[in-house]
Amino acid sequence: MMKINLNKAFNNGIADIRIEIQQAKEALALLQSGKGKGNDFLGWLTLPGSITAELISDISNTAEQIRNSSDTVVVVGIGGSYLGARAVIDALTPPFFSHKTEIIYAGHHLDADYYHHLLNYLRNKRWSIVVISKSGTTTEPAVAFRLLRKAHIEAFGLEGANRRTIAITDASKGALRKMANQNGFKTYVIPDDVGGRYSVLTPVGLLPIAISGIDIKHLVEGAKNAEKQLNQPSSENYAILYAAARNKLYREGKKIEMMVTYHPQLLYFIEWWKQLYGESEGKENKGIFVSGATFTTDLHSLGQYIQQGERHLFETLILVENSHQKVSVVNDEQNIDGLNYLSGMDIHNINNTAAQATLLAHCNGGVPNIVLSIDKITPENIGYLIYFYEIACGISGYMLGVNPFDQPGVEDYKVNMFALLGKPGFEQQREQLKKML
Ligand code: PA5
Repeated sequence: MMKINLNKAFNNGIADIRIEIQQAKEALALLQSGKGKGNDFLGWLTLPGSITAELISDISNTAEQIRNSSDTVVVVGIGGSYLGARAVIDALTPPFFSHKTEIIYAGHHLDADYYHHLLNYLRNKRWSIVVISKSGTTTEPAVAFRLLRKAHIEAFGLEGANRRTIAITDASKGALRKMANQNGFKTYVIPDDVGGRYSVLTPVGLLPIAISGIDIKHLVEGAKNAEKQLNQPSSENYAILYAAARNKLYREGKKIEMMVTYHPQLLYFIEWWKQLYGESEGKENKGIFVSGATFTTDLHSLGQYIQQGERHLFETLILVENSHQKVSVVNDEQNIDGLNYLSGMDIHNINNTAAQATLLAHCNGGVPNIVLSIDKITPENIGYLIYFYEIACGISGYMLGVNPFDQPGVEDYKVNMFALLGKPGFEQQREQLKKML
């Protein structure tokens, strides 16, 4: 499914991280014992194995009904209630592909122009809403849902809109649950013990992914394989190796990790990874700053900095060994552009040669590289990678000594925003903040 190579991260490869490997094994054992920090949010650890054929078929049937009744589905959510679905859909959908049912995202920002144009765009379409919020009270999706709901009722009547709305939320708490119960929306539950950023393999991710036409069975299969392999306390366990390597690099002063892909369809996969690691580890004044890049595109922007800027970063490359399609460079008799030396060469090979060349250049420039490889971008491999990154994140967070399953820092901006917007209950903070502005 995947491989990991640390030879371009450390002079002596794995031999240089023996201590960290031992610590990573202990962190995995702590995770599995359920006695570590944040242990009420460990449901994701055994999630793939608990996904039944019945759940897959229920989600697939719901997705099929939505596909049959809708030209467009608006998926409303933010953070962990948005990024996983988008990451997988983008990774597994061929570019320029015309979906039977297109997926549009909302609730992941507060841009007025976007909502104006979205509401115009939806006019005269057959559209449905999948609204996702674990807490059921997050401002961005709640504002978007309020706008969309009004337009939905105007377009399809109250009953029609209710039939065309699916809510994915807590089993009993939150405003979204209340609205769903009152209006009879079909609902799916986000398990209590699975935090937002670990929820892509619950209906939060699986329903939108299935609506996009991707077979979720294969995605889940890949994650199940990963669950079996990556829970072993072995020095061959890729999650142990990745967590050990990045903590070693961090301790040596490499404070920034760039996740690198050579495939634009993985851009949102990196966004998902950034949220997973950024929210899990960035606390108590600690943690690697996570960043991402799509090469070769970004070699023409960030490349200069990576090669010669401050030496505080390392890269993790997701190398894809094979493409699905073959496209060769054509021969040109005139050869004015001088490219005939590439005639007949597959563009994927050129891309991977660019990856090798960049790897060598960046390593020589003082940027260690962890290399993760998969054979192809397939649902199984993406499912495997999802679980790989999740368990490695839990291990890595415990090695760092933080609780990788909370996000107390996210509250600060919310309190300020509520106070400044005049939300009842925040009057005192409002007065204080206004003086500071
Ligand atoms: O990972 C997390 O917990 C967060 O990013 C949440 O997913 C995000 O804040 C959205 O929360 P909710 O699903 O409650 O609307």
